[in-house]
Amino acid sequence: MLAGRKILLIIGGGIAAYKSIELMRLLRKAGAGVVPVLTRAGSEFVTPLTVSAIAGTRVQGELFDLTAEAEMGHIELSRSADLVVVAPATADLMAKLASGLANDLASTLLLATDKRVLLAPAMNVRMWEHPATQRNLETLRGFGTLVVGPDAGEMACGEFGPGRMAEPPAILAAIDAALTTDTALAGRHVIVTSGPTHEPIDPVRYIANRSSGRQGTAIAEALVRRGARVTFVTGPATAPRPLGCEIREVETAREMLAAVEAALPADAAIFAAAVADWRVAAETRSKIKKQPGAEPAPLTLTENPDILKTISRREMSRPGLVVGFAAETDDVLANATAKRLRKGCDWLVANDVRPETGIMGGSHTAVTLITDAGAEDWPAMSKDETADRLAARVAEALA
Ligand code: CTP
Repeated sequence: MLAGRKILLIIGGGIAAYKSIELMRLLRKAGAGVVPVLTRAGSEFVTPLTVSAIAGTRVQGELFDLTAEAEMGHIELSRSADLVVVAPATADLMAKLASGLANDLASTLLLATDKRVLLAPAMNVRMWEHPATQRNLETLRGFGTLVVGPDAGEMACGEFGPGRMAEPPAILAAIDAALTTDTALAGRHVIVTSGPTHEPIDPVRYIANRSSGRQGTAIAEALVRRGARVTFVTGPATAPRPLGCEIREVETAREMLAAVEAALPADAAIFAAAVADWRVAAETRSKIKKQPGAEPAPLTLTENPDILKTISRREMSRPGLVVGFAAETDDVLANATAKRLRKGCDWLVANDVRPETGIMGGSHTAVTLITDAGAEDWPAMSKDETADRLAARVAEALA
């Protein structure tokens, strides 16, 4: 995807700026052209001469360059690229972009561009975790800005945690993915459920489960990459929300069912959420108090609606392809095969979630896809790769 593409690379002021030199080298090796922009702070860490030499072109740095300004240089610069990459993306650059400030060349380009922006954040762990940075990150994701990293580890300042800029090969892969356009699912609408549900006990307590929402998020992003319109119905998951989707945030199983029904019609629906099977029969409006000397109050549970089953068995506007997930700890194949028939879905993706597999909450998984034609064991791979393979199969089935 990289050969012949033009990347506008903004190098911010951080110690990780030296890694951007390596990134430029990798980009050029892959056949991409690089137009480098060095912020004033960036030039404290790497010199314009080094950047120009590796990029093979003049480094841009000043907003008021009179020759370029005659041709509205900064607008032109931001539009002629295929992708704008900010590496390192400092807390300051992220804050400027999130609030729409444009007081130097880098921030002006970021505001003026009509292309996608990919950030590779790099900063001290406290700065990364500060609510202001996290709020800016949310805002930027909402704009459709792509983010790679940061990684966790020991930092130049001696602290430990997330904040290290992603390694150049990982940034290169993210650039490649951002430039990939696959239209196999263009014009298709897919609903994806994801994450846990929270079932209230009283105003302060709830029943939940350990689902992170990572698999559902990866599936939604893989579908978007193939051009699908995705409605992403999520419970309170810890995974960041997927890019490019219509997001519906819900708390309970009943809200999730209502959001799915409201999103119909759809060409396909993928139910990756870990929906709570039960809720408390009588949720109280007041906090349940300890009664001195008395036994704890018993919790009476009642069954939640089964979203997968309800949608699979709909007569009107049933999606053409309904995919369920099964989390099993024993007799995975037998249980999952029976579950597919019981729920009435077309495909079932079975996961072996015994604690020793590390699948629940982890980054890798090994699934079995059960269809009308039988069971297929997929090799162990990352949740992203599993999502990509599933999205490719959905595209094939809807073709
Ligand atoms: N599911 C759902 N609504 C529910 C429960 C589950 O939509 N109330 C969906 C899940 O999103 C998943 C599939 O059903 O796609 C299987 O979930 P799982 O919890 O494994 O199945 P259960 O029906 O709860 O069976 P059991 O817990 O008895 O194994």
